[in-house]
Amino acid sequence: MNEKELESLNFPDAPKIVSSTFPGPKAAAALALSARTESMARGGGRMPVVMDQAFGVTVRDPDGNTFIDLSAGVGVSSVGRCHPKVVEAIRKQSEIMMHAMDINSSRRTQLAAKISEIMPEGLRGDCITYFTQGGSDALEAAVKFAKRITGRHQIIAFHGGYHGVWHASNALTTGTAYRNGYSPFMGGVIHAPYPYAYRFPFDTTHKSAEQIAGEYVDYLLNTPYTAADDVAAVIVEPVQGEGGYVPPSPEFLQLLRKACDKSGALLVVDEVQCGAGRTGKMWAVEHSGVKPDMLTFGKGMGGDVPMAGVVMRSDLAAKIPDGSAPNTFAANSLSAAVSLTNIELLQDPELKLLQRAHDLGQEAQDYIRGFDCPFVGEVRGRGLMIGIELVEDKATREPLRGENLGKLMNYVLSHGVMMVPCGRYTNVMRVMPSLTIPRSLLFKALDVFRDGLKTL
Ligand SMILES: Cc1ncc(COP(=O)(O)O)c(C=O)c1O
Repeated sequence: MNEKELESLNFPDAPKIVSSTFPGPKAAAALALSARTESMARGGGRMPVVMDQAFGVTVRDPDGNTFIDLSAGVGVSSVGRCHPKVVEAIRKQSEIMMHAMDINSSRRTQLAAKISEIMPEGLRGDCITYFTQGGSDALEAAVKFAKRITGRHQIIAFHGGYHGVWHASNALTTGTAYRNGYSPFMGGVIHAPYPYAYRFPFDTTHKSAEQIAGEYVDYLLNTPYTAADDVAAVIVEPVQGEGGYVPPSPEFLQLLRKACDKSGALLVVDEVQCGAGRTGKMWAVEHSGVKPDMLTFGKGMGGDVPMAGVVMRSDLAAKIPDGSAPNTFAANSLSAAVSLTNIELLQDPELKLLQRAHDLGQEAQDYIRGFDCPFVGEVRGRGLMIGIELVEDKATREPLRGENLGKLMNYVLSHGVMMVPCGRYTNVMRVMPSLTIPRSLLFKALDVFRDGLKTL
């Protein structure tokens, strides 16, 4: 598919702000209604945008303003929103069956078989999927199953990690905003440093952050008197997402694999955000050659409809008693039909979306580095999972202050570009568009972002 064809899968006029105020009058009324009627515990409630229609990477609000979405709904719309093939799959499936409970049904069975085919080595062809609705519950399931399989109770997770907001998944998640006032969470979680080289707490003169962080987990797992003596699993994001878009070198996961093998702990890779092609391979763990014991997926595997789950080695899954974890809505036939279509598009030999994610990601990183802006501390990423770490001062690395971030966010939004920040100091801007983003729209949006930086 050429650029013109990709462009045709978007509203033609993005970015375009037509309302004389921003947000416009209809959006302002909807935001006020939402504030009175819906919980703001959700993440996106405070963003002054109301989405009314979406096509590809473009979004319209009720006032007719059109945005380019560089966030893909936080990594969800890998193949672009309302892709004609997805819409057709929904139409067809909705005419024959949508809800089937969690008994066997044609689409979920096909999807489980397809997932087995596309898994990374170690799981491919010999794995079992347990479906859930969203990422948080996929992680809840992974923790529960890891405990049942190993007969152990502790979990090692990482500083900066985000795995969800429920009792077990929130225990793994380290963000203060998600934890404050909600504890105690599930016990038995030990947090270790993630190899975030830009802000690593230890001296990296003689060893890389990846070596130090990997060896530390080995020390925890395989040394007496660390109190990590009953660890069921190490749960890790192969590329850290909410913690700041941090792509470690392959050595980190390789060291974790060795440490887990020595201790008998399972290695669980959380691919909810970095999976489904985003990093240029179907699964981010594949950049390291490591074979995981379990893999959690979500976001991009569902796209326009919710779809998530945990995949386990078959021999491990055999230890989980039948009927011990029912789930009413999981693998709804509509979701399964959409997920099968998404996978088909991701694997389409003409579209080459994974290669596109890799190539366009490289090009975008180089372009952003060329901004020569005093606020850009570091540009990093893998494929179309790019983080731009913004700082007040490149020498001290002081994170960009909240008021500057607010100014930047307002600028980009009111000029028709949607971006979502992340990071431990909310100072990392993400570039994570649909893998189908036309080059023209990607670079138009990056130019708006660059102009926004100039206003700081
Ligand atoms: C790595 C990772 N795991 C789990 C989750 C939780 O997913 P959900 O929001 O679908 O519950 C997220 C969400 O951002 C995530 O990035």
